[in-house]
Amino acid sequence: MKKILVTGGLGFIGSHTVVELQNEGFDVVIIDNLSNTTIDVLENIHAITGKKPEFYKIDLRIKNDVNSFFENHTIDGIIHFAAYKAVGESVQKPLDYYENNIGSLVYLLQEMNNRNIDHFIFSSSCTVYGQADNLPITENAPTKPAESPYGNTKQIGEEIIKESCKAYRLNAVALRYFNPIGNHESIKIGELPLGTPQNLIPFITQTAAGIRKELAVFGDDYPTKDGTAVRDYIHVVDLAKAHIAALKRLITKQNKTNFEFFNVGTGKGSSVLEVIKSFEKVSNTKLNYKIVGRREGDITAAYADTTIANNVLNWQTTKSLDEALDAAWKWQQKQ
Ligand code: UD1
Repeated sequence: MKKILVTGGLGFIGSHTVVELQNEGFDVVIIDNLSNTTIDVLENIHAITGKKPEFYKIDLRIKNDVNSFFENHTIDGIIHFAAYKAVGESVQKPLDYYENNIGSLVYLLQEMNNRNIDHFIFSSSCTVYGQADNLPITENAPTKPAESPYGNTKQIGEEIIKESCKAYRLNAVALRYFNPIGNHESIKIGELPLGTPQNLIPFITQTAAGIRKELAVFGDDYPTKDGTAVRDYIHVVDLAKAHIAALKRLITKQNKTNFEFFNVGTGKGSSVLEVIKSFEKVSNTKLNYKIVGRREGDITAAYADTTIANNVLNWQTTKSLDEALDAAWKWQQKQ
């Protein structure tokens, strides 16, 4: 049985991926510094899968701690989620973002190289494409200069991995996520934004729950079907399963090059107003919202061409936007 280290394994996407790994029979060890989650998530994973993953509270910025973890554990592969992810905050605190997102990555890759650990999966983002010239976005679309230090950490991260794979003969996959939403059907794990949510779905569910007065829809003058911006919202369980597919590809040595990257989305673009409509339908509520000006840095539209991920990873999404929003609403009501 392969033992997989999941960094940030108690976070939103990490916890869902741990569940899928355990369901697939992998042994999981989690490292998390609990900076943006709580320890309860470990018990909730246990409740879902019947198996408690090994857990270590380690801060990956502390090289000695990373080193002593690897001294004491034999690991077959790493799925690396641990990172800061707030775009606006990254503009205020760029060095925190570079230290955490890049520093940790370098230490992990050094350990992999020193110990002959071969398989690495990296959380990347569709943000690397910026506003793509053509939609849907294929993996061949050029990357655009990053709009924020956060986005830059994803671009630089991919570069670091690519160069390391070449130099040290490691094998890695970067998954470029579109917009992950929803949560596990058990409603035991989900997204727990601290403070005012920046992302659309938690803002919608908190507004419907009465925590926020009203949702501001950022712009209705985009050149899209209804004037609001378009994104590719992917159910987090579908996204988690893409990690299993990528990991199996590396384990069975089916990868064509040392470093591969894939778009992970549904292939379907939804506008903000469509998301609101779908939410109102599944929740049977009326959402309080108003149209305001555009949010700085937002792009018009992004959705994935998933042909390569579907064919090469042999992976498909199975869950609809309605299902994801229904799950997100149930999760919100539980809080
Ligand atoms: C954001 C990040 C992106 C990150 C992704 C992760 C920015 C500029 N980009 O993407 O780098 O990878 O989250 O999930 O922050 N919206 C509203 N009202 C709100 C919130 C959002 O109208 O209160 C709109 C936005 O304008 C956008 C859509 O909803 O059109 C989705 O927004 P959001 O969930 O923040 O995701 P992205 O901006 O796509």
